[in-house]
Amino acid sequence: MTMAPTEIASNDEETMILEMVRELVAEKIGPRAAEIDATGEFPWDVKELFAQNDLLGIPIPSEYGGLGGTFVTYVKVVEEIAKACASSALIVAVQELGMLPIMIGGDEEQKRRFLPKIASGEHLVAYALTEVSSGSDALGSMKTRAVKQGDNYVLDGQKIWITNGSVADVVCVFAVTNPEAGSRGVSAFVVEKGTPGFSVGKLEKKMGIRGSPTVELVFSDCKVPAANRLGEEGEGFKIAMKVLDKSRPGIAAQALGIAAGALEYATGYAKERIAFGKPIGQHQGVGFMLADMKTEVESARLMLYEAARRCDAGGPDVTLWAAMAKLKCGDVAMSVTTDAVQVLGGFGYSVDYPVERMMRDAKITQIYEGTQQIQRLVISRRLVGRG
Ligand code: CAA
Repeated sequence: MTMAPTEIASNDEETMILEMVRELVAEKIGPRAAEIDATGEFPWDVKELFAQNDLLGIPIPSEYGGLGGTFVTYVKVVEEIAKACASSALIVAVQELGMLPIMIGGDEEQKRRFLPKIASGEHLVAYALTEVSSGSDALGSMKTRAVKQGDNYVLDGQKIWITNGSVADVVCVFAVTNPEAGSRGVSAFVVEKGTPGFSVGKLEKKMGIRGSPTVELVFSDCKVPAANRLGEEGEGFKIAMKVLDKSRPGIAAQALGIAAGALEYATGYAKERIAFGKPIGQHQGVGFMLADMKTEVESARLMLYEAARRCDAGGPDVTLWAAMAKLKCGDVAMSVTTDAVQVLGGFGYSVDYPVERMMRDAKITQIYEGTQQIQRLVISRRLVGRG
C-alpha cells in the first residue's frame, strides 16, 4: 500500500534529533544568523557544532561512520536549521550533496577511505559539476578534461559556482574523459585538497546565502590517482544525475525552512503591530495573505516529505519527486518571503529584521541544483518524453 504523505511520522530517534536541532538553532544558530550574513564569512563555529552533534553524516550508513538516518530525518533537520539561517543549513545540505557521488559511485575501498571523515565533519566535501558555459546544459557544454596517463588522470579546466569549494577538504569533480562518447564520456573523481594543480579561484559576492562560500575551482595539469575515479570510466554523468535526484530534496528543505521561518516571523509581527485600532493580521488584507502563506508552506512540506520518503524507498520515481519538491519549495520560499517583507512593510525592508535576509536567501533556491526551468524540464520529460 502506498503511504499517504500525511502518514510520514517521526520515530523516536528522529524526534530526539529534531529536539536537539531546535535547541541548537534557538540557542546558537539563530542568534548568529544576521552576523553570518553581514560578514559573509563561513561560520566554522556552526560547522563544529554540527560535527559535534553528528549532523554532517545523517544519511551515511553507520558502517561508514554516519548516523544511518533516513532522508526524511535529513530533510527535516535541514528545514529546522534553515528556519533561522539558510547559510548554516547549507553546510548540512552540501555535505550530503558532496558525499553522494562516493555513496553512489564509489567502491568499498573508496567508501571506507572517504566517508568516515566526511560523516564526522573532519572533512568538508564539495560537488563540482558547473562550468562557465555549462550550467543547465551540464552534459553538452562540459569542457573540463581528464586524460588518463599511467596510474593517474590529468585534469584541466575550471568549475564555477562551487558551494563550499574553498573550505572543502575533498571535492567530487566531473570531467570529460571521452569527448566523442556523449553521456558516456564523463567520469567522476575525488580530488583532495593540496593536490598539485588544484587551486581555488574567484570568490563570488552574492545576494544571499552569504555565509556560504561560492568559488571557482581551477585544475591545471592536476594529477589525480586513477584510484580516485568513482565508478567506471564514462559513468560520471549518470552518477552526477543520480546525486541530484537525492540532493534536490535537501535544497527543497532549505527553501521550505526559509519560507517557514519567514511565515513565523511575519505572523508574530501581524499579531503585535496595531493599525487602525487592531492587530494588522486581523485586517483581511494581511490575514488572507498569511492564510495563503501558511497553505503554501504546508503543501510544500507534504510534497518534500513524500519526496524524501521516496528517496528512502529508492524507487524509480525519485527523479520526478525530487524535481517536483525542489520546484514547489523553491517557488514557495520566494513567494512567502516576499509576502513576509510586505507584511512588515517598511520594517521588512530593513536589515534590522530578518525577513529581508530570508527573501535574499530564498532566491538561490530557484536557481541552484537545477533552475526551476530545469525542474520543469525533468518533470515534463517524465510525463511526455522528450521527442
Ligand atoms: N538518473 C540516472 N541517469 C540519468 C538521470 C537520472 N536522474 N538523468 C539523466 N540520466 C541519463 C540519461 O538516461 C542519459 O543516459 P543515456 O545517454 O545512456 O541514455 C544521460 O544521463 C543523459 O541524459 P539526458 O539526455 O537527459 O541529458 P540532457 O543533456 O538532455 O540534460 C538535464 C539533462 C536534466 C538537463 C541535466 O543536464 C541537468 O540536470 N541540468 C541541471 C544541472 C544542475 O542541476 N546543476 C546543479 C549543480 S550543483 C549545485 O547547484 C549545488 C549547489 O551549489 C548547492
